[in-house]
Amino acid sequence: MPSPPSAWQRIKLGRKNILAVWEAEAFAYEFVSTQFFTRRAFLCNSPDAVQFAFGSHNESFERKSPAQRFSLLPLLGDGLFISDGDVWRRRRRIVNPIIHVSRLPEFAPVMVESIIEVRDRWATLPAPGDIDALGEMARLTAEILSRTIFGRQLGHEHASVLVESFSEYQRHIGQIDLLSLLGFPDWMPRWYSARIRRSVRRIHALLDDIIEGLRVQNDRDDKSIVGRLLNARDRDTGAPLDAKALRNEIAVLFMAGHETTANTLAWTWYLLSQSPEAEARLHREVDGVLGGRPPTLADVPKLIYTRAVFEEAMRLYPPVPILSREALKEETFQNVRIPKGSIVIVAPWLLHRHKKLWRKPDHFMPERFLPESDEPVSKFAYIPFSIGPRICAGMAFGLTEAILCIATLAREFKLGLKPGHVVEAECRITLRPGSSLPMQVSRREPAVSGDGKPVPGQSLSCPFHHA
Ligand code: HEM
Repeated sequence: MPSPPSAWQRIKLGRKNILAVWEAEAFAYEFVSTQFFTRRAFLCNSPDAVQFAFGSHNESFERKSPAQRFSLLPLLGDGLFISDGDVWRRRRRIVNPIIHVSRLPEFAPVMVESIIEVRDRWATLPAPGDIDALGEMARLTAEILSRTIFGRQLGHEHASVLVESFSEYQRHIGQIDLLSLLGFPDWMPRWYSARIRRSVRRIHALLDDIIEGLRVQNDRDDKSIVGRLLNARDRDTGAPLDAKALRNEIAVLFMAGHETTANTLAWTWYLLSQSPEAEARLHREVDGVLGGRPPTLADVPKLIYTRAVFEEAMRLYPPVPILSREALKEETFQNVRIPKGSIVIVAPWLLHRHKKLWRKPDHFMPERFLPESDEPVSKFAYIPFSIGPRICAGMAFGLTEAILCIATLAREFKLGLKPGHVVEAECRITLRPGSSLPMQVSRREPAVSGDGKPVPGQSLSCPFHHA
């Protein structure tokens, strides 16, 4: 029987593809530990263990692991995604309300407007039209973020520089911090490649320029996310964010909101192309709910199967497949001592396909997320947005954007995988279907009459709607 990989072999595997560090048995682990040189790492892979680390004892594990912190430090500085303690709490209090669910009435029309531009472009493609579904979704989510974060401030040229630089950063950044595994302290400077430094310079210069322009305009009524951040004040001190903090938080929002949503949308189109039954059920729902018109925010609660499709895509391919923390003090779980400084890992990649937690864990079955499903799913077993105080601040934003996108595009198009293309999951901080996803778009006839009204005899109400 082959022996399990050593710490060094795991690190070598992980540098190529971080998910390769786990063998097949890991999908049944519950709480296990491994030694990585000077650090002990604990994998929390059961609902109880996740509840312990991210729920009841979250304060002991609120700090991101050195690997996460140092991989994003040049780009995000003290941005809330990688900060902790007082800085994190203050920033979270400022950012949360600005992208909160209550802001969706402002964001949703911008989302639909951007999605309709994609729809109109796809409508001009020859049948079937060749597209890179991953690139299309990445451009779309970047466009939506640009318009909501910057209002109309960001021109096409700047948007491309931003997207390319973020993507260059993700491509070249390492995901393992060898120095901290070898016992080197946090204050020791880390080395970053010329490509990383170049992409950071570009992103920061662009964001600084935009912020400075807005600061000079001094528009107190600016409703964009940047405008609101500029006008935000700390609840306790009354101080505004300084220029660097503002730039870091904008970088966080762009980074956190861009690839996560784009990758899952790409996975969704791929999964639907492999599952004609799910695709047909989705089409019935969008035709029934929307008739011949584009969706609005009011349709989102009715698009229940559409949401289930996206949720199932996030289960199989969680956009952030590994969440890792550092123990700020010693803790004990199930009589096992977790020393201060250990790494605690929660991996949605393993948890979401856990052999003991899911029926047919590797199958695409959106119906498990429907309200009538009898599959028992613990809220600590399904965590695409993480859980606990550090839960994704943009969850409502991302979910709404995705549902509007799937409904708008699936109402008029079918996407098929380009014949011969083999999809392979690749993890570069986020989990994506390789570097591109070649698909073919063809038009479908929504079940509506030419005037945009439902065909006679078809109910407008959603067959899966539970009021
Ligand atoms: C499908 C879409 C998305 C998924 C699956 C997702 C997932 C996540 C996850 C797992 C985390 C926690 C990471 C960790 O603990 O290491 C996170 C954090 C965060 N996300 Fe999202 N995200 C999505 C979309 C968005 C969007 C659209 C935005 C903003 C508009 C956003 C803003 C944030 C922010 C600000 C944080 C940091 C929260 C904190 O540390 O307090 N996310 N996201």
